[in-house]
Amino acid sequence: MKLKYSIIVSVFLIFFSSCKNKNSLTVNSPNNQISVIFNSNNEVINYSIAYKDSVLIKPSKLGFQFKGMQPLEKNLVISDFKYSNSNTTWTQVWGENEEIIDNYNKLFISLQEKEGLKRKINIVFKLYNDGVGFRYEIPTQKNIDSIYISNELTEFNFVKNHSAWFIPANFDSYETLYKNELLSEVPSANTPITFETKDGNFISIHEANLTNYAGMTLNKNSEDNLSFEANLVPWPNGVKVKTKTPMQSPWRTIQITDKAEKLVASNLILNLNEPNKIEDTSWIEPMKYIGIWWGMHLGTQTWTLGNRHGANTVETKKYINFASEHNISGVLVEGWNTGWENWGKKDAFDFVTPYEDFDLEEITKYATSKNIEFIGHVETGGAAQSFETNLDKIFSMYHNLGVKTVKTGYAGGIQTIGQYHHGQFMVNHYRNVVKQAAKYQIMIDAHEPIKPTGIRRAYPNMMTREGTRGMEWNAWSSGNPPEHHTILPFTRGLAGPIDYTPGTFDILFKNAKNRVKWNGLDDGTSRVNTTLAKQLALFIVLYSPLQMASDLIENYENQPAFKFIEDLATDWETSRVLNGKIGDYITIVRKDKKSANWFLGCITDENEKKLEIKLTFLDVNKKYLAEMYADGQTADWKINPQEIKISSIEVDSKTILNLKLAPGGGQAIKFTPLN
Ligand code: NOJ
Ligand code: CA
Repeated sequence: MKLKYSIIVSVFLIFFSSCKNKNSLTVNSPNNQISVIFNSNNEVINYSIAYKDSVLIKPSKLGFQFKGMQPLEKNLVISDFKYSNSNTTWTQVWGENEEIIDNYNKLFISLQEKEGLKRKINIVFKLYNDGVGFRYEIPTQKNIDSIYISNELTEFNFVKNHSAWFIPANFDSYETLYKNELLSEVPSANTPITFETKDGNFISIHEANLTNYAGMTLNKNSEDNLSFEANLVPWPNGVKVKTKTPMQSPWRTIQITDKAEKLVASNLILNLNEPNKIEDTSWIEPMKYIGIWWGMHLGTQTWTLGNRHGANTVETKKYINFASEHNISGVLVEGWNTGWENWGKKDAFDFVTPYEDFDLEEITKYATSKNIEFIGHVETGGAAQSFETNLDKIFSMYHNLGVKTVKTGYAGGIQTIGQYHHGQFMVNHYRNVVKQAAKYQIMIDAHEPIKPTGIRRAYPNMMTREGTRGMEWNAWSSGNPPEHHTILPFTRGLAGPIDYTPGTFDILFKNAKNRVKWNGLDDGTSRVNTTLAKQLALFIVLYSPLQMASDLIENYENQPAFKFIEDLATDWETSRVLNGKIGDYITIVRKDKKSANWFLGCITDENEKKLEIKLTFLDVNKKYLAEMYADGQTADWKINPQEIKISSIEVDSKTILNLKLAPGGGQAIKFTPLN
């Protein structure tokens, strides 16, 4: 007994004396290719990152400044630290992959001020083979209660001038086109921001598990043009985060891979989120949907009541019929409820009153009788508070009507004065909506959202969201150039699902008669800037558990190419990125969770592209029918976007396909095993 005690004491002493002198700690990724060095000296606390033995991030500051309290950034000593590791596999309710490996080495560091208030702060690093996550914790303690963060000091100090893909920082919107510039030329950015190094490595900065905190943007450090500092979206009084102990920040993430394909396949963001909190998930299901939507964007229909009103009972039933005849599960209806005439004004919507030509009860009954899901729509026009006050009323109405999915929207500024879409106030709002929706067994598709940071793991009813420059921009602006879609998987797509809503068949709007201009960005020359085959390929390339075929149903009638959408699966056992170059091309294959079918999507930018695709992902010993939707001989997004060649061949795992993509083109393939 005595002996045992003395061993424990001496082990403790060795440990204690070793950390007393320690002011530097190192942790490596499981494969030892990534290392983080944490340092604390009298002046600062900082971290640096090395990848394959070269420095990627040089010492970069950590810490906080507060309103009404001294900063926590210096005179901190390591009071304790702990190494641990974990290698587990977890199962997703839905997703790109059913099983996810979560393999990391962790370093937990407790810091305490040397003198004065002796306040404590912890920093936790998790190193994966594809990157680093770290977060701050301010534990419960005597000298801190309420916390008002005025500045998070986190820096990302690069040593080389990499090529960067980014959109400029914006506190309200992610709906801009990506730019490709040298890191030194990036003044500010929203995350994810992605970099390619000269030696062919890929890095992306983002955040994971953004909970009760402000969204992070990046600002260029005024003293070093290779360095960024965190710039959190503020409250109206300039404070960034209001919270209490115990506080945990979101994870700051730095994904690092030696291939662009591996970046797209990384699960680091999901792994840094909490496990599923919803016990019964049987009601949560990915699906395809169509809807009364594109007509309003084109300007052939209106959200408001009148002779061009899209959401009327007759029209909606046509959509329900079409869906039930074409293997589509859901019908979204926008403009069904009153208030659109006041869109843009304060509290324009009550969210629940149908227009007089829209019989909500009859329509939802009709949908149920046809086994089709009616997808509700809540446009708030930025009136988040009014939506939140009415959550129970709105969700119980939908629940009672049998509605399982609701699309939300926050178009325009947030009406609560001084608030931004991406600040803590709205981060908490978006989360609250998802939690309340879960109580009513409702899935959410959020537009004008906060960016995804992996919340779908904890709340798998948070299905998909916009937060990107989606299809609608093609209806009423200069649109999205062919390159846009070849950048998205490597940038915004790293964060999570995108409700891009591809599937335009009438690419030049030839069937759209009597368009009425309703949007100031529309100069009358709008169109979709891809080929038809690329529209199909986007359903595979841009991952979303809810996939909208967004064109008018008239444009799908009697179109052989629509079979691909009919056949399309929406939930995946596994996904693989076969090739890809940011801004140029990408090929992804996914295996259906419910069958042995595989689907391939391959897209290019404005340049034509030939790609050799090895079908080694298919089961050996099986023959498959490959139904191929390829760009036609003379297809070209600019002058001949609609020419498509549909053909079928027999293939197996040894087959090599030579795909030829037209300028702005793509190819979609369905592989079905032959018995
Ligand atoms: C913007 C959304 O992105 C779009 O899908 C919707 O139709 C409009 N707001 C109106 O709610
Ligand atoms: Ca390009």
